[in-house]
Amino acid sequence: MLQPGDVVALSGELGSGKTTFVRAAVRARHGEDQTTSPTFTFWHRYAGDPPIDHLDLYRVDDPAELHELGLEEALDGHSIAFIEWWTHAPSLVPQRRYEVTIAGAGDQPRIIEVRRPT
Ligand SMILES: Nc1ncnc2c1ncn2[C@@H]1O[C@H](COP(=O)(O)OP(=O)(O)OP(=O)(O)O)[C@@H](O)[C@H]1O
Ligand SMILES: [Mg+2]
Repeated sequence: MLQPGDVVALSGELGSGKTTFVRAAVRARHGEDQTTSPTFTFWHRYAGDPPIDHLDLYRVDDPAELHELGLEEALDGHSIAFIEWWTHAPSLVPQRRYEVTIAGAGDQPRIIEVRRPT
């Protein structure tokens, strides 16, 4: 369903499976053999049509530093963007987004909720 410009904001505790979910989504969209070009440690871009950006904002303390790094490019409408730990920079994430919330971690089963705030 995802279109260029769509943003998927992921929540869930450490080790809940956010990165695993994103990688599976990239495989589903682009195929198995995906190469990532890490722009920064917290930003991976998967080439393809459309490109997919995977951001992990866990280590971000100050949203201003993201603007300095040109992160808006990941959200300029040309790619699909997945964002882990998006609450570390809520101003970056558009209101129009999908929210994926993963409950459970470790050996527990997962419950994954996908919603679209209106
Ligand atoms: N749906 C799932 N069911 C069972 N195990 C899973 C599931 N998704 C991920 N895992 C396992 O949980 C562990 C953590 O996964 P992952 O790195 O994707 O979590 P994360 O939410 O991205 O963590 P972090 O907050 O540190 O970035 C991995 O060992 C992974 O194999
Ligand atoms: Mg992760």
